[in-house]
Amino acid sequence: MNKESNEDILVSNVDDGVLTITLNRPKAYNALRNNALQEIVNELEKVENDNNIKVVIITGGKKVFAAGADIKEMAQLNVVGLLNDIRPVFWRKIAAFPKPIIAVVNGFALGAGCELMMHCDIVIVGDNAQIGQPEINLGIMPGLGGTQRLLRTVGKSMAMQMVLSGEFINAEQAKNFGLVSEVTLPELSYSRALTLAKVIAQKSPIAVRIAKESLLNAYETTLEAGLASERKAFTLLAATEDRAEGIAAFMEKRKPVFQGQ
Ligand code: CAA
Repeated sequence: MNKESNEDILVSNVDDGVLTITLNRPKAYNALRNNALQEIVNELEKVENDNNIKVVIITGGKKVFAAGADIKEMAQLNVVGLLNDIRPVFWRKIAAFPKPIIAVVNGFALGAGCELMMHCDIVIVGDNAQIGQPEINLGIMPGLGGTQRLLRTVGKSMAMQMVLSGEFINAEQAKNFGLVSEVTLPELSYSRALTLAKVIAQKSPIAVRIAKESLLNAYETTLEAGLASERKAFTLLAATEDRAEGIAAFMEKRKPVFQGQ
């Protein structure tokens, strides 16, 4: 399925272990048609086992992240079309990507755009961000985590308000509700995310991967089971050379050099 060139995204990996995917269909406000999702998934699959890529950034540029699923494309699908839709396959692949993904969100992150943002592990937004699940205005509802991930993050009242009214929230509200971790000026959001990505890229890739898995597991499990599996993961890391290196570097008062082993 891999194509030679992308139509809906730009990809760059010039920076120290960080791959950047930029949604690039500005005329349609980066609406996430199937092709865009396919291209994102192709890129993630290419770097999943590439040790040189430690962190992925997904952004839409300075003006808009993504205004949702492509409504024109979605309009073509009846109930049978939706039952056979490939989109959930793409979304599961994004959700299962084992390395950290940072979303840089400026402007609109709506519908599937908000859901893509919520698939990412860390979200940095520009103060121009407008975030929402406006599917209700189309006589439908979110279908890619916009009720489930949203409620688990912002709580019942705000999730109900956003999904039932379709109203957008701004960057400050999103931060207050824990949907995003930092708000910057729009022109600084990418560089802030890149700095953060480079910090993470210096860490032990195995520890990062297992910590991400453990954090995401908190969505799925009870506290008791989550604590038990966290402890197993913590113990497992004692078998890595990176752990020995990290502790030795601390003792020797030097910077650790992690090899991912
Ligand atoms: N799908 C397809 N095209 C879209 C789009 C979308 N989701 N959002 C915007 N566009 C297109 C518009 O059709 C328009 O293209 P044309 O110039 O060719 O007509 C262009 O982008 C610019 O849009 P507007 O002229 O509407 O720009 P605006 O600044 O007046 O409004 C907006 C911006 C508020 C984002 C408005 O475009 C809008 O409401 N978009 C739809 C948002 C939405 O409903 N998203 C949810 C989609 S459903 C979904 O995502 C389902 C799911 O989770 C499973």
